[in-house]
Amino acid sequence: MGLRDVQLFLRPDIIELIWGHPALALLPVDEMRQATEVALARDGVLALCYGAEQGPARLIEQLCARMDRLGYAPPPEQVMITGGTSQALDMLCTLLTRPGDVVLVESPVYHLALRIFRDHDLDLVPVPGAGQGGVPLFVEALGETLEDLARQGRAARLLYTVPTYNNPTGKTMSMAQRGALVRLVQRERRTNHPDLLVLEDDAYHELWYDEPPPSSLYELAPAGPIVRLASFSKVLAPGLRLGWLSASPEIVQRCIGCGMLDSGGGINHFTAYVAAAFIELGFLDRHVATLRAEYRERRDVLLAALAEHLPSACHWERLGGGFFAWVRLPPGVDGAAFLPTAEAAGVSYVPGACFYAGEGGDDRCRLAFTLVSHDDLAAGARRLGQALRER
Ligand SMILES: Cc1ncc(COP(=O)(O)O)c(C=O)c1O
Repeated sequence: MGLRDVQLFLRPDIIELIWGHPALALLPVDEMRQATEVALARDGVLALCYGAEQGPARLIEQLCARMDRLGYAPPPEQVMITGGTSQALDMLCTLLTRPGDVVLVESPVYHLALRIFRDHDLDLVPVPGAGQGGVPLFVEALGETLEDLARQGRAARLLYTVPTYNNPTGKTMSMAQRGALVRLVQRERRTNHPDLLVLEDDAYHELWYDEPPPSSLYELAPAGPIVRLASFSKVLAPGLRLGWLSASPEIVQRCIGCGMLDSGGGINHFTAYVAAAFIELGFLDRHVATLRAEYRERRDVLLAALAEHLPSACHWERLGGGFFAWVRLPPGVDGAAFLPTAEAAGVSYVPGACFYAGEGGDDRCRLAFTLVSHDDLAAGARRLGQALRER
């Protein structure tokens, strides 16, 4: 493939339900222009310097004030600006792990995080998550896996989970499960897994469509073993490459003391100034409200179309937020093997097996509904249903 400007590519005859990307028409170009003008007019010189390693105070203060309004604000020394969740994951692996360390990963889970862990030669150990019907709940499965590892004399370093509007399942851990998870991790850190940290990927927390989700895991143990990863990608624009993490002061200090930041200063410093202005101007709250309303409609259109067009042997659950519907295909249909047939019928998806560090997901597919118009969501479900029936 030659030079390209953006990661996204769309094939003309295929309704692409692959991409977990925002609706292009909703990207707030005009507001970004205004925020950039404000940042340059007011703080141009500061915004164009090397930035503070932790990220500019201006943005951290805006984020803390906003999180406070939304429910819970970490103290500023527990917040650090990142280049988005992907960069944060890569940085945490670089700074906190050695090749061969055990990383427990909820299964299924965001498949591209698995790639980042693999780049660091980590030993991925899947833990069945709530997305698999019929298996023990995630926390029980986690307890069993930690015991197994301890019996083998191995200690886990990280647990990676997307507990709120999981990618790909759309599921959200209950408050009771969150409390149980935090208590289990705290107990294990006192015994067999002293270095275990939880990476809570909270990319979709604000994108709820029925009711707000429970508190983040981090809120349950703010100075403890949870690192919460938040991102502007889904609530503002992925091209900003900007996010933030909340963690204990020790972890934040470890990150901001690293050589890369010492050399280059804070990550995406100019963009961070623009994001601070964007929040200060009231644009972020307004934008998130717009996204919620629009994505709620798209979710409803997709779910109604699935109910109308998919064979009765398919199964999915109503999702309360996030970007994805997680569909079980009829018995005998393998999501990866069926994809070429689906694409020939004019619809695409991501096969379920991609989201598993181990076995599983062959009978599933993930449908992303945020990028695609109402008409295409309906047509995509119709094409998928027809292709499955013809098979
Ligand atoms: C769960 C999850 N985490 C992280 C990302 C990527 O985050 P960022 O754009 O902040 O690197 C995505 C994007 O799809 C995601 O679904």
